[in-house]
Amino acid sequence: MKLTARIAGAAGISLIAVAALAHGGATGIVMERMDGMSAMAKVMKALAPMMQGTAAYDAATVRSGAAQIADHAGEAMTAKFPEDTSGGASEAKPEIWQDWEDFAGLARQLEVFAEGLEAAADNGVGGMPAQGNMMGNSTMMGGQGMMASGGMMGGQAPMMTAEQLGQMPADMAFAMVSQSCTACHSRFRAEDK
Ligand code: HEC
Repeated sequence: MKLTARIAGAAGISLIAVAALAHGGATGIVMERMDGMSAMAKVMKALAPMMQGTAAYDAATVRSGAAQIADHAGEAMTAKFPEDTSGGASEAKPEIWQDWEDFAGLARQLEVFAEGLEAAADNGVGGMPAQGNMMGNSTMMGGQGMMASGGMMGGQAPMMTAEQLGQMPADMAFAMVSQSCTACHSRFRAEDK
């Protein structure tokens, strides 16, 4: 146990060193949030082949990866975006602070979805949702559901709960986590500069 922690610690330090070079010279809180984002990207990249069926599925890896993402999301994420810290090496758009509620909502949504993926880890990939009736009687796919309201990521779409995602095949929950990243980036991150 101790040994594992020490190895993990050493790996963490070298990761930070690499990240520091990779973030275009960002410092302080901007570098911290980039590190958090990069850590999540690393998890997504590691899980993607399992979700696509090109690597053996491992529920424990999915669970711990999802938990890591949840740890970086929500308030942990918004705390790293103090007011008006765009510009310079940062790709953060100033709109973050103009539309803070939306930004924080997306950060929170990611947390909920990542918790949902954690709960869905044991379901494995493909096939029907674990409970079999999600499509049938659900409030989320039905008239008032996310599809009907213009897509699940549309600003005011009803937020699904982690429990609801926990009923899904893991690859479906994973896709929702991934869309949660994209939804925020397309609105609040300037990627081409
Ligand atoms: C609530 C909004 C939001 C969510 C959700 C979000 N991001 Fe980001 N992300 C940003 C913003 C804003 C930046 C730009 C930060 C900066 O440059 O200051 C960013 C930057 C990044 C970067 C670049 C980091 C660097 O080194 O410059 C990566 C990679 C990234 N995000 C991955 C992810 C992944 C993967 C997810 C989902 C698991 C995710 N993000 C979810 C807002 C978000």
